[in-house]
Amino acid sequence: MSYFLLIILLPLTSSVEGQKEFPDNFKFGVSSSAYQIEGAWSEDGKGESIWDHLVHNHPEKIRDRSNGDVACDSYHLWHRDVEMLKELGVDTYRFSIAWTRIMPTGIGNQVNPKGVEYYNSLINALLANNITPYVVLYHWDLPQRLQEMGGWINRDTIGRFKEYARFAFETFGDRVKWWTTFNEPVQICRESYEQDAMAPGYDFPGIPCYLCAHNLLLAHAETVQLYRLHYQSSQGGKIGISLSSAWAQPRSDSADDREASEMNLQFIIGWFAHPIFSTNGNYPQIMIDRIGNFSAQQGFAKSRLPTFSADEIRQIKESSDFLGFNTYTSYMVHKLDEQNANIFPQPSFNHDSGVVEYPNTSWPETASSWFRVHPKGIYNLLTWIRREYDNPDVFVTENGYSDHGDMRDTNRVEYFKKYMDAVLDAVGEGCNVKGYFAWSLMDNFEWRGGIVERFGLYYVDFNHPNRTRTRKSSAKFYADVIKKRKIDMELMPEPDDYTPYSAAEAVSTRVKPVIIAAMIVYLYKLIY
Ligand code: NOJ
Repeated sequence: MSYFLLIILLPLTSSVEGQKEFPDNFKFGVSSSAYQIEGAWSEDGKGESIWDHLVHNHPEKIRDRSNGDVACDSYHLWHRDVEMLKELGVDTYRFSIAWTRIMPTGIGNQVNPKGVEYYNSLINALLANNITPYVVLYHWDLPQRLQEMGGWINRDTIGRFKEYARFAFETFGDRVKWWTTFNEPVQICRESYEQDAMAPGYDFPGIPCYLCAHNLLLAHAETVQLYRLHYQSSQGGKIGISLSSAWAQPRSDSADDREASEMNLQFIIGWFAHPIFSTNGNYPQIMIDRIGNFSAQQGFAKSRLPTFSADEIRQIKESSDFLGFNTYTSYMVHKLDEQNANIFPQPSFNHDSGVVEYPNTSWPETASSWFRVHPKGIYNLLTWIRREYDNPDVFVTENGYSDHGDMRDTNRVEYFKKYMDAVLDAVGEGCNVKGYFAWSLMDNFEWRGGIVERFGLYYVDFNHPNRTRTRKSSAKFYADVIKKRKIDMELMPEPDDYTPYSAAEAVSTRVKPVIIAAMIVYLYKLIY
């Protein structure tokens, strides 16, 4: 056998006695995001974000009427967070900066030194413990003031974002070497402008989501250009974007159903990935054609999908050093039958894409209605990305499981075993997956799911004033994977011991000082 043949037959994941192992340079991490964990929503000069605004003005939109005012209180408890990262043994920690903590209105004329101090302390503590900070600039918490000026529909926001990013590169870039511009741009545009699912929740189908995406792509590309021109060579970092998708499982093997799967992936992944990672750039042709044709039929003077100039196409193309990718689940898909097209409003993103998604009831449920377990999905997505975009460097920047807060979280452990094993299968086939981040370090504020839907490796006691964190079984399991660089399929560790603070105790702790104060006032009045 020739050496050449030998080399291509060698598996890409190393293996000991037949067991798959993660490659030596593979990075393990955990993810979180500012609004979901920090709390201190208006402390020390922080400004209001669109999520602060939503939870305070529409508490009924949150599953349990909770909010992120205190959340995990990481603004005060970050020392403990770093300790947990050390216990896990992660190489890297992915967290986001709250724009409003360092620029309260989102506009660069006003900087909040206390906010800067907070991120400096966190970054320094991570580095002192050999943990690489992997910083996301935007994880959904736009400054409310900018929303009042139109948010991502206003082209002016691109310049505001660049100003903020420039400040972050200048201030933290001597120590931060991994930057992500946007987390899940599809969610930013589709769930917030098209639908009323995330803040600001416009519920305005068919038009603003495409404007939002257009501006985000330009903001991303201009920010990357700024970084590459002024900071990358001196600071030596990398910059990318985190996209996301569920796998679209065709309902059957028919050509139509397989085409539906492809259409779905082009609309969800390709919308952002094609302009950045494909050879020709620009939106996927199928989006240009379908949205253009429907727009004409619907009486619009031009396509609802905006057009990039040739220069913009060039600028956006290759504007990422890596592809961050978040995934949790899969959906079944088939084509939208034109006779039943009225199941979707017209115009709308769903009608434009022409695909119906539905859950496969044989896949196990989780605590989130949108989420069922299908490990093959992550493998299919990673191999699809490899084929479609010429095998870019990929980090799985989020993957995890939701339950209602079990400490002996066996379902989460089983989920990680199967999903990480599927990642190893993709690596074994040559996908350039460079790292994996579990979502999430600890239970946190799950947006519209409140604190009911929990994704943490650490249990957080939201009734306790100290937001006590306790290791679940999954935290110990993940630490074992990181240490051994392979998945022990038999392992099911016991969680640490902890009796959660009861809601009654929590109330009495809050009420006690009020009663004591009232008694003092009463006695004072009695005496004098
Ligand atoms: C993706 C989002 O980035 C994150 O904020 C969210 O909590 C997880 N999905 C789970 O829904």
